[in-house]
Amino acid sequence: MSTETIHRRPPGVEPLVIMQDVGKSYGNVHALRGVNLEVYPGEVTCVLGDNGAGKSTLIKIMAGLHEHTSGSFEVNGVKRHLASPRAAQALGIATVYQDLALAPLMSVWRNFFMGNEIRSGLFLDARRMKTIADEELQKMGIQIGDLDRPVGGLSGGQKQCIAIARAIYFGAKVIILDEPTAALGVKQSGVVLKYIAKARDAGLGVVFITHNPHHAYLVGNHFIILKLGRLTLDAPRDALTLDQLTAEMAGGQELDELKHELGDVNPGKVVDPDNPEIELAGPGKPKVQAGSSRDHEPKGEV
Ligand SMILES: Nc1ncnc2c1ncn2[C@@H]1O[C@H](COP(=O)(O)OP(=O)(O)OP(=O)(O)O)[C@@H](O)[C@H]1O
Ligand SMILES: [Mg+2]
Repeated sequence: MSTETIHRRPPGVEPLVIMQDVGKSYGNVHALRGVNLEVYPGEVTCVLGDNGAGKSTLIKIMAGLHEHTSGSFEVNGVKRHLASPRAAQALGIATVYQDLALAPLMSVWRNFFMGNEIRSGLFLDARRMKTIADEELQKMGIQIGDLDRPVGGLSGGQKQCIAIARAIYFGAKVIILDEPTAALGVKQSGVVLKYIAKARDAGLGVVFITHNPHHAYLVGNHFIILKLGRLTLDAPRDALTLDQLTAEMAGGQELDELKHELGDVNPGKVVDPDNPEIELAGPGKPKVQAGSSRDHEPKGEV
């Protein structure tokens, strides 16, 4: 099971998932080409990339929604073509999508057990399910309060956390999170990042898809960047600083071109709205006087 990637892990720890030279075409569209990826237990592997880079395509292959069209995909050392999400789940691969597939009108505990309900004879064993959901959420330190509340009333961060706790309880070995922080504010993103770290500490292999290098760097052990379906970076944490990751993500050369194009923009420039040709402030311009008649004027140096 050798690959060309260099690992700095204890000997004997094998990857849960190995993708080698994986490609996926949708007709004439090559969404992925020559992608290598390994997911290790107890690590967070971050997949970064811009819109259309191929991130969702990559995780759909792992999640059993799409089959790859070239290369090899191994789970626990066995080559696979997953034909359905059920096939992925049976191998311990759980996916938390951004829209989450939670039922908003149903309670927290019903959502926790959706598709895996505990029955007592013909009836649902509500008491047992509630007790287990409560214990599991508490174990993760997730504060929800009343588990009879409909999930629709919870915050985006709380919903993500329920989905993570559920995946761990039902025995996931690999958990894939597709942009879990994209729609969240700073505080809620922090909460979700904390549970990503908890899933890692529980020994899961976490695949964290994000646009945000700052979020990735807070929890990531390994980073890959996709650009137009190809890998442009594949590095462990100790080979990369946050600044380097951010620059790689922005695309160093593209950023230089953008700077060139924006050369005339003059950041910090403030014009008089009544006479836009008159510049009130900007680099090298005198300070705008505070207390002048206009209430929109900046206070102090810009
Ligand atoms: N079902 C499909 N049929 C045809 N082309 C597709 C299909 N799904 C994705 N693509 C194309 O494959 C490429 C990669 O798309 P993908 O959704 O994987 O990107 P992404 O990195 O997840 O982007 P985003 O950040 O916008 O979610 C894009 O060019 C997209 O248009
Ligand atoms: Mg996507």
